[in-house]
Amino acid sequence: MNKVAIAATVLSFAAGSAWAQADDDQLMVNDEDSLVTEISAPEHMENVGTIYSGWRFRSDETQALQMDDFDNPAFVFVDQALDQWETTEGTENKSCSSCHEDVADFAGLKASLPRVENGELVTLTNLVNECRTERMGAEAWKYSGGEMSAMTALIAHQSRGMPMNVKIDGEAAPFWERGKELYYTRVGQLDMSCSNCHEDNYGNMIRADHLSQGQINGFPLYRLKNAKINTTHGRFKGCMSNIRATPFKEGGPEFKALELYIASRGQGLSVETPAVRN
Ligand code: HEC
Ligand code: HEC
Repeated sequence: MNKVAIAATVLSFAAGSAWAQADDDQLMVNDEDSLVTEISAPEHMENVGTIYSGWRFRSDETQALQMDDFDNPAFVFVDQALDQWETTEGTENKSCSSCHEDVADFAGLKASLPRVENGELVTLTNLVNECRTERMGAEAWKYSGGEMSAMTALIAHQSRGMPMNVKIDGEAAPFWERGKELYYTRVGQLDMSCSNCHEDNYGNMIRADHLSQGQINGFPLYRLKNAKINTTHGRFKGCMSNIRATPFKEGGPEFKALELYIASRGQGLSVETPAVRN
């Protein structure tokens, strides 16, 4: 059997039945903030006319969990991060709050990341670890570990409702090109690319799952499946494992480039952090 035939037997796509109902759902949070979950695709996307948040593809029950912060299980972790924010650590005897007056000052930051600094692509995780190692004399947190996931969720949450808006030209261009290339490259035993599922088949069912466009505007987010906060790179890793490819390293150059490219495929969608998914 060739690889495409294997993929066809292992995975089959079926027309999505839930899509019609999901079509005009509106994401209101706490009955006050209306978030953008559908908008015209940015010009650089050649094959897609409209982009949708992953929230639009979830069941009514899962959607509801994200519509009220009291019901959203992610906030347990966000609250833990608020305690961490005040916790003194490291040789400098400082906490985040020793230097950053209010976490709310980070509003807008997540919407613009990753970005290039001194010739390198930098994620929110990198920025937090830079403060830990360079400014607190504390140890770096593990890239997708519990503390880091919660802290980046807390910081990204400050941008909730703001449009995704990453820079893709100038210094960012080569990283973006690399990310695009990775997005369209077939990998793994099933010989599939991200685009095969998230561009060619969104709205269709794959096994019991309703395929979305694989957007990252809700990250870090809570998954019912593992009852914790999941990071973008953790999700990329999971998708690569599912197609039986050897995943790239979390925090490595491939996933960072992919993060920039996928963020740019969501330009204009509201940041939803912390979102809830199955
Ligand atoms: C000793 C002071 C100090 C401590 C402690 C500190 N930071 Fe920072 N942080 C800075 C400085 C200085 C910058 C760079 C200038 C800026 O953007 O404010 C920075 C930048 C950042 C940025 C990037 C902001 C941006 O807009 O680019 C984030 C995010 C951040 N810090 C998070 C944290 C977190 C989370 C902690 C605790 C784990 C922490 N910092 C601890 C001083 C500190
Ligand atoms: C075999 C099909 C398949 C392939 C190939 C695939 N994914 Fe996924 N992906 C899924 C499924 C199924 C889900 C869960 C349902 C959904 O949100 O689409 C998912 C979810 C996601 C999500 C979460 C979206 C959200 O709103 O929570 C992201 C991000 C993602 N994928 C990125 C990727 C990337 C990057 C690649 C390529 C490295 C990739 N996927 C390849 C099937 C796939």
